Amino acid sequence: MNTKLKMAIVGAGIWGANHASIYKAHPFAEVVAVCDQNLEKAQAVAAKLGIDQVYDDYNEMFAKSGCDAVAIVTPDFAHADIAIAAARHKKHMLIEKPLATTRDDVARMMEAIESNGVRAMVDLHNRWSPPFNAAHTSVEAGELGEVQNAYMRLNDIKWVATDMLPWAQKSSILWFLGSHSLDTLRWFFNDEVARVYSVSRSGVLKSLGVDTVDTYLTTLEFKNGGIAQMENGWITPNANPCVNDIKFNITGTKGMIALDVSNHNMIQKYTDESVVVPDVVVQNRIFGQPKGFAFESIRSFVDCILTGDDFHVSLQDAANTSLAILAVMESAKSRMPVEVQYL
Ligand SMILES: NC(=O)c1ccc[n+]([C@@H]2O[C@H](COP(=O)([O-])OP(=O)(O)OC[C@H]3O[C@@H](n4cnc5c(N)ncnc54)[C@H](O)[C@@H]3O)[C@@H](O)[C@H]2O)c1
Repeated sequence: MNTKLKMAIVGAGIWGANHASIYKAHPFAEVVAVCDQNLEKAQAVAAKLGIDQVYDDYNEMFAKSGCDAVAIVTPDFAHADIAIAAARHKKHMLIEKPLATTRDDVARMMEAIESNGVRAMVDLHNRWSPPFNAAHTSVEAGELGEVQNAYMRLNDIKWVATDMLPWAQKSSILWFLGSHSLDTLRWFFNDEVARVYSVSRSGVLKSLGVDTVDTYLTTLEFKNGGIAQMENGWITPNANPCVNDIKFNITGTKGMIALDVSNHNMIQKYTDESVVVPDVVVQNRIFGQPKGFAFESIRSFVDCILTGDDFHVSLQDAANTSLAILAVMESAKSRMPVEVQYL
């Protein structure tokens, strides 16, 4: 193949820099431009990775850069207008999760993407996690019989909300990690959530100066009878050996699979000062190249654009995930069960 997919990136923060290094490492992709409303951040990523064009206005970048596709890597609540502009410029797009954080944004994005005939994937990367993917393959093959119920914990250490994300207060653990949980559970049940009941608790993060919910505990009822519990919290102690605390259990009529992904025993590093369990599956480097499943999903977007294959996460998957999360938030506020309102 002679031509490379020309990528442009909006959002030169922590994850945008990762996107740039993944496209750069892909044999059939290149990054032609990077944009950030803070031009210095875009310039810093461009200088580090040898990207020629830098912008602080994404519309200008879509018009002038000659890109084929766009990665939208802005904060959770700031995806919609950029995606709509990209669609109008006929650019394919990889949108960071979640698709959007309001019903209106979900509807506007779907309309713009569909009416402009562009392709869009949302980076709900848990489907690429080796243990989750292996478990799903087993469920699909019928090894557990008919799936009955599931439990999924996906929590972060406090540091993510207090230090890593300057905008945590304007988002929620439900958007930041709950979108992965909800998508994973929909994928395993191969079904849509009909009704949710959620309770939440706040106070710990508020006392640390970040006014957002600490934890949501949610019960999901799927349309075809499946039931699941989903735990999403942002107050795991910072000394947890992994940034995430992940547990998963799925039970069917003939079997069960249990995953303990984060507190694994694959590798432990001891010094006089600390014990560390290095990440070797989510975002690691092998011979200096970006590897791990959080990067695999991004590479998969490039592959599917080039081959024309379907994405492993459809736009409808991402839209329904966001709409179900909105129902979870409404339930936690009203303390009542809420039916998910699909578009
Ligand atoms: N898939 C994953 O594993 C993963 C991991 C971390 C973050 N994320 C997602 O990536 C997104 C970005 O997260 P992050 O941690 O990189 O945040 P960040 O704050 O480090 O970076 C976001 C950048 O977007 C820029 N920005 C905001 N609005 C803009 C606009 N209108 N035009 C141009 N630039 C704009 C900001 O200036 C900032 O530099 C979020 O949606 C987050 O949930 C995904």
